[in-house]
Amino acid sequence: MIEIPSDLNKMLETAESVAVLTGAGISAESGVPTFRGEEGLWKKFRPEELATVDAFMQNPDMVWEWYLFRRNIINEVRPNPGHYTLVEMEAYFKNFDLITQNVDGLHTAAGSKKVWELHGNIMRSKCFDCSKPFAEDIDIESGIMPVCQCGGKIRPDVVWFGEMLSAEILNKAFSVSERADLFFSVGTSAIVHPAASMPAIAKRNGAYLVEINLEPTPLSDIADCSFMGKSGEILPEIMERLKR
Ligand code: OAD
Repeated sequence: MIEIPSDLNKMLETAESVAVLTGAGISAESGVPTFRGEEGLWKKFRPEELATVDAFMQNPDMVWEWYLFRRNIINEVRPNPGHYTLVEMEAYFKNFDLITQNVDGLHTAAGSKKVWELHGNIMRSKCFDCSKPFAEDIDIESGIMPVCQCGGKIRPDVVWFGEMLSAEILNKAFSVSERADLFFSVGTSAIVHPAASMPAIAKRNGAYLVEINLEPTPLSDIADCSFMGKSGEILPEIMERLKR
């Protein structure tokens, strides 16, 4: 059982606008590897070799294969209690926005409605040359990279290092962070910007900041309350408190 401090209890009772930022940690209990940490994907693969425009131009097949490998994992997994609790919270609070760095689509699969996917979605694809969405099924078995009508190579519709985030989604994420009374940062190492700046923006604008992570992060110093543990256990406990 976690102990919920009295100031957080009060915020849970009074908050009208709640925003949440999630990272790979919330999907870890579903079986999706995180990027950093002991089992992190970036320990085995260098990001600059895989998740960049240059990497795709130099070795499209390798990058495509890496994304097929991740797609394959994500195809097999299901949302966990952390994802489902955020669906319940969306129904509970007057204004609720979920900002995620995850590309796995598990928040939407769980039933969350207002999800701002900052880094895109691995299940979508688009043309590398003309950016047109590619709606056909991807044949994971064959591993063959499809080609757009324009002749361009098909790539995952995710944001790579050095690429711009969607301005529309980014602006939305900033504005919901600014107006939040209560902000949760869940399962993120909080080091990749601009996502990592959202909790601080919320705090600067008066939000009560809660962090949920297995370990301290750069955010821990400014958080009003830090819960160290699994999001799939801590979020449901917070929701239980709300229901009481
Ligand atoms: P990271 O892999 O950097 O961090 C995951 C965080 O989740 C770590 O701080 C872990 O301690 C924590 N964690 C792991 N399991 C957890 C659990 N069960 N409950 C709570 N916390 C847990 O992932 P992100 O912060 O999401 O960007 O990484 C940010 C971005 O870096 C990603 O979106 C990706 C990557 O490069 C792009 O691909 C553009």
